[in-house]
Amino acid sequence: MDLEKLLTDRLAPAFATVAGVPVDPVVRRSARADFQSDAALGLARRLGRPPRAIAAEVLDRADLADLCGVAEVSGPGFLNLTVADRALGALVTTLASDARLGVPVVAEPETVVVDYSAPNVAKEMHVGHLRSTVIGDAAARLLHWRGHRVLRANHLGDWGTPFGMLIEHLVDLGEAEATRELSMGDLDSFYKAARVKFDADPAFCERARLRVVALQGGDEATLRLWRLLVEQSERYFLTVYDLLDVTLTDRDFHGESSYNDLLDPVVEDLDRLGLLRESEGAACVFPPGSVGRDGEPLPLIVRKSDGGYGYPATDLAAVRHRTGTLGATRLLYVVGLPQRRHFEMVYAAAAQAGWLAPPARAEHVGFGSILGPDGRMLRSRAGGSVKLVGLLEEAIARATALTRERNPELDEAEAAEVGRAVGIGAVKYADLSSDRHKDYVLDWERMLSLDGNTAPYLQYAYSRIRSIFRRAGVAARPEAGISLAEPAERALAIELVGFGRVVTDVTDSLEFHHLAGYLYRLAAAFSTFYERCPVLRADEPVRESRLVLCDLTARVLGQGLYLLGIRTPEQM
Ligand code: ARG
Repeated sequence: MDLEKLLTDRLAPAFATVAGVPVDPVVRRSARADFQSDAALGLARRLGRPPRAIAAEVLDRADLADLCGVAEVSGPGFLNLTVADRALGALVTTLASDARLGVPVVAEPETVVVDYSAPNVAKEMHVGHLRSTVIGDAAARLLHWRGHRVLRANHLGDWGTPFGMLIEHLVDLGEAEATRELSMGDLDSFYKAARVKFDADPAFCERARLRVVALQGGDEATLRLWRLLVEQSERYFLTVYDLLDVTLTDRDFHGESSYNDLLDPVVEDLDRLGLLRESEGAACVFPPGSVGRDGEPLPLIVRKSDGGYGYPATDLAAVRHRTGTLGATRLLYVVGLPQRRHFEMVYAAAAQAGWLAPPARAEHVGFGSILGPDGRMLRSRAGGSVKLVGLLEEAIARATALTRERNPELDEAEAAEVGRAVGIGAVKYADLSSDRHKDYVLDWERMLSLDGNTAPYLQYAYSRIRSIFRRAGVAARPEAGISLAEPAERALAIELVGFGRVVTDVTDSLEFHHLAGYLYRLAAAFSTFYERCPVLRADEPVRESRLVLCDLTARVLGQGLYLLGIRTPEQM
């Protein structure tokens, strides 16, 4: 159990007695002691007493003897709380023999659908898909580790009008050449070439139009060509996932087309419920709460005037399928913030239709953009969108060069392995360590630096601990227990005990920068500890206790980074 909670449980009854009503003691970390509670300040007016007197009475009544070494009133009425070495030692000792590192499996596992990555067929993945992939994968890993049933949904853009031109372009190129281009990941030039013809050549345009009709009509020859496009693109996306160390597999592709048979039932349901209205020939729902600038309700177009279905219809069908058929109660959509309105409308309409009723709920796990060094949307030198694989390859190349420089003792294969883990880790960590609601700037120097809140810093801390054990040829014995004396030792222990709380909070908020920030504080606390407290050179029983502390730190760092999808090389 975390210390904030332990202290809160001890203080709350005392506060309640003094105040005559339940009071949250608001326990938090403090610069002056380990923790502090400021709640007495807020009670002064209500109780008509000086806050210091309130704090003193709370201290008097609270049962803190075994938990706190020092507990005192300070300043205008703060309670400063210092945890007793023995109590803290007992907590970290328990943690050291806990395979779950203080993070419980949830009491009520849910089925959670994580909708993420979702690139578009025959179109290059862009940096927005990178963010979705990285954040979504961290969510899937975390929820799974907490004991939920996680279903990964890669909502591939594999249907709709663009496929008319894409298939016709494939026909023009010939299957062999088209397959070659697509399998090489030349998705951008393929898509653009199709687009150019579509815009310039009316005959091509007409062929594309007829092709869409054939596709939607289920024409077998057309479907075969369409499948070719989808398969080649999927194969390419899988290579990107592999490079990124992302847990998505070929079984997780549930593209838009997979909902085709569910679209008519969606319309029937909505119609039966009286929710459909015609607007300019299209069948629409007007979800409550969505109005345009003019105050008029905004339509969600379920069926277009030409009878076709688009993005909103597919998403409605997906909600209905995910709650109704898959039995999911938590639906996550890891998609950029520009699509926020779309999802609000889809959720509201789905709720009206009864497909999204408590306990089931949907959350848009939105995120901002990646910016270039100039603070504007990231662009390639030529001004186009940045090719994702190119970005990842650059990260690996830079990290490998740095690794060779820093550690010339590694052989070629080891340096390549470390370079990959560090380069990919740096890209993912730069993303996950910044508040996802905001934009962030892609800065190679900073994200690959060994100092600061970066993946290499954390990976280095991990490998340094592992090397202590390697060098000494020893293993930690958690059953030996941990006893604490030095301030740096205590500070490290307090961080370690905080892992459970952070992970629990992030399971709800999916704000991974809080987990990243925690890991950074932990690594920093370790580094201070390691500077000030000898480990291998200490006498027994301190040596053994410190080894357990080191090992526990490595395990928490390793697990935390694993949850973020970042590898931890044994040496760097
Ligand atoms: N393919 C879409 C895009 O590239 C993202 C799909 C997100 N998921 C969803 N269920 N709509 O923007």
